[in-house]
Amino acid sequence: MKQSIFEIVSNQALTANVYRMELRGDTSAITAPGQFVNIQLDGMYLRRPISVCDVQGDILTIVYKVVGKGTEAMSRMESGKLDILTGLGNGYDLTLAGEKPVLLGGGVGVPPMYLLARKLREQGKEVSVILGFNTKDEIFYEQEFKALGCAVTVTTVDGSYGLKGFVTDALKTMDYTHFYTCGPEPMLKAVYRASVTSGQMSFEERMGCGFGACMGCSCKTLTGYKRICKDGPVMMKEEILWAQ
Ligand SMILES: Cc1cc2nc3c(=O)[nH]c(=O)nc-3n(C[C@H](O)[C@H](O)[C@H](O)COP(=O)(O)OP(=O)(O)OC[C@H]3O[C@@H](n4cnc5c(N)ncnc54)[C@H](O)[C@@H]3O)c2cc1C
Ligand code: FES
Repeated sequence: MKQSIFEIVSNQALTANVYRMELRGDTSAITAPGQFVNIQLDGMYLRRPISVCDVQGDILTIVYKVVGKGTEAMSRMESGKLDILTGLGNGYDLTLAGEKPVLLGGGVGVPPMYLLARKLREQGKEVSVILGFNTKDEIFYEQEFKALGCAVTVTTVDGSYGLKGFVTDALKTMDYTHFYTCGPEPMLKAVYRASVTSGQMSFEERMGCGFGACMGCSCKTLTGYKRICKDGPVMMKEEILWAQ
């Protein structure tokens, strides 16, 4: 983990309430796709955890949805500096991908899939990506994944774009060697049930410290108690114990 100051390079709306922010700073602690950063905001006690969407040299890209006062404050920033903890969380294990991995992202679970897809494509994998949204106006990053050479399927719940339904409706039709996913818990549960291979799931749990010290994110798994922020946020399908 590293604490450092990043400079805002750009902050641009992708949809009505989803923004992409590029920051320049020391990215050396970021070692795997699926890790997250924790951002200090003026006047707010708790930092805000946001997944690494991409990292190239000293440029960190995050994509975030405005849901409350922290992300709302971020959406208004055009320039300036942010105090950020980097290198948090375990990240996805790329060695388990096999030749034809499938990546499923739902809503703000889409951003961490981008760096993962880029790394898997660099290894020559045949990568399928399923992006799930409620409706057409919420869609972002379809073209970015296509530009990486991924086979992209978009699902919308209301059928206004792509395949009507959920990411699992697309998953059922696919042939894949391993799955990687991030999204809201109901989606993760559905992927858990619908998947026919092993896979890795990232949980966006509410957090306190974000680096393993407060136990605020502790949860029970089949392999004992784990802290989502430090032992996760990525868990293997086989170790997950759903609360109900
Ligand atoms: C590992 C991880 C990765 C994440 N990656 C992304 C991402 O890439 N893009 C994105 O848009 N969002 C992501 N989130 C969710 C994001 O952290 C929250 O939406 C954000 O903290 C909300 O802050 P706020 O001040 O706008 O909302 P408020 O509701 O005002 O926040 C109040 C408190 O609750 C926490 N909180 C609120 N919602 C969430 C949530 N869904 N998950 C965790 N904590 C929450 C906040 O951190 C803050 O401490 C991630 C969460 C985690 C844990
Ligand atoms: S948030 Fe403090 S231990 Fe995970």
